[in-house]
Amino acid sequence: MKISILYFTKSGKTKEMAEIVAKGMKNVNNIEVGVFDINNIDENFLNESKAVVFGTPIYYANTCWQMKKWFDESRNYNLEGKIGAVFATADYIQGGAATGMLTIINHLMVKGMLVYSGGSALGQPFLHLGPVATKENYEKSKYMFEVFGERIANKVIELY
Ligand SMILES: Cc1cc2nc3c(=O)[nH]c(=O)nc-3n(C[C@H](O)[C@H](O)[C@H](O)COP(=O)(O)O)c2cc1C
Repeated sequence: MKISILYFTKSGKTKEMAEIVAKGMKNVNNIEVGVFDINNIDENFLNESKAVVFGTPIYYANTCWQMKKWFDESRNYNLEGKIGAVFATADYIQGGAATGMLTIINHLMVKGMLVYSGGSALGQPFLHLGPVATKENYEKSKYMFEVFGERIANKVIELY
């Protein structure tokens, strides 16, 4: 089963975390992962995906405008009934990552997606809205992104 990870990056951190999420997904059998910059998406792969995960850098306590623009122009993508999930990178713990992730979660709801992160329900690491890498916890947080990927992939197998 296919899963797409869509990200925007300027300085590479969100892309690096997208690849770690993908690595976690590949720990699960029967999962094929496509990792795409939002400017270069394989539309067939996206349409066939059972889950779509969005990775954003945080700009001014929100998602970056490039990701917002993608959603504002994404009328032709039918994401209804797919699992939707989000992760972020930011400089500071107080830099507004949760607010930015909620902006994306709003769009996922509007798209008719089934929003999932595993939350705190699956124990440590607690993921709540999704994993966040900040400058201070950057290296340490990689494990959390891998677990997140694994949890999304397990849910895909369970539901589809
Ligand atoms: C225009 C702009 C605004 C930013 N605003 C914030 C912010 O409000 N809070 C924060 O923690 N980091 C902020 N950052 C830092 C980025 O979110 C952070 O460096 C991120 O990891 C960059 O991701 P990338 O390497 O994938 O481009 C901002 C960066 C830019 C370029």
